[in-house]
Amino acid sequence: MRTLTRLALLLLALGACAEPGAPERLTAGRPPSRDAAARDPAARGADAELRALLAAHGFTGRVASTLEARLGRRVDPRLADVGRLLWFDPILALNGDNACAGCHSPTHGLGDTQSIAIGIDNNRVVGAGRRGPRNQRRSPMAVNAAFYPTLMWNSRFRAASGDPFDNRAGFDFPAPEGRTLSHLPHLLAAQAFIPPTERVEAAGFAVPGDNDALRAEVLRRLNAAADYRRRFAPLFAGVRAGAPITFEQVGLALAEFQLSQVHADAPIDRFARGEAGAMTAAETRGAVLFFGRAGCVGCHAVSGRSSEMFSDFREHVIGVPQVAPTVGNVPFDGPGADEDFGLAQVTGDPADRYAFRTAPLRNVALQPAFMHNGAFVRLEDAVRHHLDPARSARAWTPALLAPDLRGPPGPIAPVLARLDPRLRAPARLDDAEVADLVAFVRDGLLDPAARPERLRHLVPARLPSGLAPLAFASP
Ligand code: HEC
Ligand code: HEC
Repeated sequence: MRTLTRLALLLLALGACAEPGAPERLTAGRPPSRDAAARDPAARGADAELRALLAAHGFTGRVASTLEARLGRRVDPRLADVGRLLWFDPILALNGDNACAGCHSPTHGLGDTQSIAIGIDNNRVVGAGRRGPRNQRRSPMAVNAAFYPTLMWNSRFRAASGDPFDNRAGFDFPAPEGRTLSHLPHLLAAQAFIPPTERVEAAGFAVPGDNDALRAEVLRRLNAAADYRRRFAPLFAGVRAGAPITFEQVGLALAEFQLSQVHADAPIDRFARGEAGAMTAAETRGAVLFFGRAGCVGCHAVSGRSSEMFSDFREHVIGVPQVAPTVGNVPFDGPGADEDFGLAQVTGDPADRYAFRTAPLRNVALQPAFMHNGAFVRLEDAVRHHLDPARSARAWTPALLAPDLRGPPGPIAPVLARLDPRLRAPARLDDAEVADLVAFVRDGLLDPAARPERLRHLVPARLPSGLAPLAFASP
């Protein structure tokens, strides 16, 4: 013990002799040293402080490894692969020009290439050059959605148990589905019933009828595709015996694909598991702010039902500017039809207007835009917004957005009037601290396995439907 203390003191003294600022200069020219021994005493102090903060929040850095235990079985690679093909195949989109991947692209963590999603009547490009009428919100990344107890920006799909792996208390969806999807084993399998019925996202307007009629038409097309029947048959006895593919089976396959896309092994996780030097000194200082004085973890939570996803999965008003597309196919809210009422769309309660689900932050650096409507295209702006929402929102202009999003924005005063109390007196951070916080959010939360070059292999060479694939641009 005493020897250890002496050793620590010696190391401390050695560190103190090092040229001040040397570690910073190291980071400028080449990749920052992740070697703990090369750290100065301040860095080692931050390491210890961060360990204490992570322990206080029960953060383990092991959430990815809990997946199969929570599922109660192994992820089935064959089922996931059928789900992958469906993800990319316009056969699920009756309009014929979109797919899950059109909005949830492997070039962006299975998230949007846009500030606000473009659905039907698009130019079949997935990337910055995507064109077409806008829907209402940005598509979140589906990577890691396996752990989310509520889905969508206003949490309108939710596991009543607070656990997406547990359907015993039912899955709540708005009408007409209500609780009818509660028999599915995972919230994502239930969610998969919805996009093919959304007319502006995927279905279009040529096929008449209700959601069940639209699903029936999707299944008719799927069952007419021999290659799909051949792929579903080994997985489902019914299909093997000649019965049609069901929508439950489609949902199970799409969910399995998403279960296979858990990428939650970021530097912060490796640090929490005891890997000294997993994070740079700047990332560590940023993490100390995030979990400490900056108060981020108050909403971007890691404990309990958050499953270390950096969200409390509750809705808050943080005063995001209201982007209003000039060419869209979804009616917006409010007297000027230029607003998004967020949670109030679900509850009908005006007090819930402008509240959105705390964005889970893992892999957020992969996104081309931030917030429910992509109002910010630079991560630093999204972070800084929290530090003075009123000033940020009033100074905001849509100048950095795509041309069809640069029209007059919706009103900001009613949004700021409902600002979450936590953001009314935010922490004061200097520029160096903001830079550290951004370094943590950008790099400390990024699992390299979710990067575009590591997900590109998911794009199928050809589709079982024989339909023409969408064109994926490089990020
Ligand atoms: C037109 C673009 C579009 C298409 C096509 C699309 N989505 Fe989405 N997706 C979105 C948007 C936008 C949201 C968020 C909507 C909201 O919050 O109101 C979303 C949300 C989700 C979520 C919830 C993620 C979270 O963080 O809560 C999942 C899961 C999902 N989509 C899966 C799918 C699947 C599976 C398909 C294909 C069957 C699909 N999506 C097709 C745009 C799309
Ligand atoms: C009062 C709760 C709350 C606090 C505190 C908070 N956030 Fe957020 N944050 C949110 C909500 C809610 C959103 C999504 C808002 C929207 O899209 O309308 C969000 C969005 C974000 C985004 C954009 C993510 C994306 O996917 O677009 C980032 C980055 C972010 N927060 C970082 C931080 C940081 C860093 C801090 C600490 C300085 C912080 N937040 C503090 C609630 C909070």
